[in-house]
Amino acid sequence: MNCKHFTIAALLIVAPLSTQADAISDLQATYQNAGASQFSATAGKTLWHKGFTDVKSGQQRQCTTCHTENLQNRGEHIRTGKVIEPMAPSANPERLTQVKKIKKWLHRNCKWTLGRECSAQEKGDLLAFLKNL
Ligand code: HEC
Repeated sequence: MNCKHFTIAALLIVAPLSTQADAISDLQATYQNAGASQFSATAGKTLWHKGFTDVKSGQQRQCTTCHTENLQNRGEHIRTGKVIEPMAPSANPERLTQVKKIKKWLHRNCKWTLGRECSAQEKGDLLAFLKNL
């Protein structure tokens, strides 16, 4: 087998394996480069359940508002009513497998829930919590 074929064969084997663990460790490495320290699943869990008051509406918001308390179950978008597939990777193997998707939704959902972006530390903590569910 020449070198080029070997590379292609190796990519074919590796590509399907580059899933959740890789997406999460990629992102956590990025967050650490941005100044975060060790990530804590416990801190992630606390933040996941923490309530924030929306300044404009006075509404209480938390991650569970749409994803519900039981992450093995489906959630429902509080505003659109759209079904959200379970967040726990054990119940939904597609969860947390795409860096782009995770970044997009952490950005959007932190802004909506906390009223601000999550810090690198908070995002890493949240992923540490979610990945083991
Ligand atoms: C207003 C409703 C809503 C709230 C509140 C919410 N989310 Fe989400 N979240 C969604 C929707 C909709 C999606 C995208 C659809 C999907 O992935 O099923 C999503 C997707 C995600 C994803 C992407 C998962 C993946 O597989 O890539 C992450 C991570 C996430 N949310 C984290 C959070 C965190 C952390 C909070 C609290 C800070 C939060 N969400 C609060 C609606 C919400």
